[in-house]
Order: sequence, then C-alpha cells, then structure tokens
Amino acid sequence: MRLKDRVAVVTGAAQGIGEAVVRRFAGEGAKVLACDLNLPLVTSLSTGLSGEGYVVHPCGVDVSRSESVQLMAKTALDLFGQVDILVNNAGISLRKPFLEYTEEDWDRMLSVDLKGEFLCIRMLVEHMMERKYGRIVNLSSSAWRSGGYAAGIPYTAAKAGVIGLTRSFAKTLGPYGITVNAIAPGPTVTPLTKPWLPAREKEMIEQIPLCRLGQPMDIANAALFLASDEASYITGVCLDVNGGIVMG
Ligand code: NAI
Repeated sequence: MRLKDRVAVVTGAAQGIGEAVVRRFAGEGAKVLACDLNLPLVTSLSTGLSGEGYVVHPCGVDVSRSESVQLMAKTALDLFGQVDILVNNAGISLRKPFLEYTEEDWDRMLSVDLKGEFLCIRMLVEHMMERKYGRIVNLSSSAWRSGGYAAGIPYTAAKAGVIGLTRSFAKTLGPYGITVNAIAPGPTVTPLTKPWLPAREKEMIEQIPLCRLGQPMDIANAALFLASDEASYITGVCLDVNGGIVMG
C-alpha cells in the first residue's frame, strides 16, 4: 500500500495509460479522482473499480479549458479535502502530412498537450504549497527526444514543451515540498496508437532493445514510483520508459 491515505487526481483517466494509472494507484491504497473528457467511459471505469472496493470517483474535465479545470480541482477538494498527487496524462495526437497542419491544429494540440498540463498544475498548486506536499507527474513522450514516429509536429513540440514546464515548475516548487517530474513513454499499446502502431509493430520492435512494445502498466509503474515517497529526492527529471528505443 505505497499510496495509503494519498489522494490522486489523474487526467485522461478513461482508457490507455490513464486507466492503468488509476488501477495501479487505487491498488496501492490511493483515493483517486479519475478525470476525462469522456465522462461516460470514465464513469464506467470508476463504477467498476468502486464495486471492487477501491475509492475512485469520476469527473468530467476538458484540460484545455481553465473553468473546467478549476471545477475539477474544486471537485477533488470537496470530495477528499486534499490532493497529494497530480498525474497530467490527458493528451491527443494529430497525424497529418506536415504541410497540412493548420494554425487551428497547432492551437488545439498545444492547448491540450501543453497548456492543459499547466492549467491542472496551476489550479492545484496553491493547495499543495499550503500543505507543503505534492507529487506532480507530467506525461511527455519519447517523441521529444526522437523527433517522433507518427504523432506529428505539434505533438512533438508540445511534448518537448512538457519537459521545460516540468523543469521550471520543479525549480519553483521544490522549496514547497512538491516534486515535479515527467515520464516519456515510447510506443505503447493504447487506443491513441491503434491507428498506426499495429501496422508498424514489427518495424518498431526491431528498434527496441527490450524487444516488445510498451504496455500501459509499464508507464503506470513508473508513475507510481514518481508519486511515491521512495522518489522524495527526485525532481525535474524525465524518466524514459521506452524499452531503450531512445536513450539519453
Ligand atoms: P489515449 O488516447 O488512449 O487516452 C487519452 C485519454 O485522454 C482519453 O481517455 C481521452 O478522452 C482523454 N482526453 C483527451 N483530450 C482530453 C481533454 N481535453 N481533457 C481531458 N481528457 C482528455 O492515450 P494514451 O496512449 O493512453 O496516452 C496518455 C498520455 O501518454 C498522453 O499524454 C500521450 O501523449 C502520452 N504518450 C502516449 C504514448 C503511446 O504510445 N500511447 C507514447 C508517449 C506518450
């Protein structure tokens, strides 16, 4: 029970990596606010887990809209009275031939994948500062190092931005007992990668020293470590969870 008595807010929680994080954290004793744009799906996940005895509540949120994120933060505090952990996992990708990206595409991608993480931190950080405790985990991507495999230019730029956001907040929030770290997954089997990864599985695996694709639970295990007290002296890092497809 490594997260006993902890309260975690997880975004993009309805499926894929976010769902695995919710399951892993709840299994370690955390109370979880499972937040997603897709309210029916995240409600069904939460109902199932509550039925198994875990404390998981659903919450609809659009991380790109500040009013919506504010409501998410209020819901968490009203329900649980505290928030110890934030996992900024919600994300989208947009694959196109590069000359077809529009200004609207750029704005949409950056507003979910980068601004969304900023807004969620912003709306919870004062509470964490008051309590002198916080664990923030931001989902980046191995794309920020490799230039990306399939997710596209705005995605890769946003995920590189997440590293700057992480380091900058880590510096600012360290004195308040709050750690801020990133995870950069390699190609991982989720609904996000379904449109391209199965068709390129063999090619990808040939580049991965550990000879398999990532699974959502691989990423959730890393998030658990960074959210736990075992990682209390780690801040501002990007943990690569990618089977070795990119190093350093
Ligand atoms: P996914 O598409 O399977 O799940 C993402 C979830 O985020 C969905 O439930 C979706 O409804 C939710 N979401 C989308 N926009 C939202 C918004 N505006 N507000 C709230 N929720 C929203 O994606 P996956 O693969 O689980 O990815 C999770 C994170 O990991 C993302 O940030 C992604 O960029 C990152 N990642 C994923 C990799 C992969 O290979 N699957 C590789 C590297 C990074």
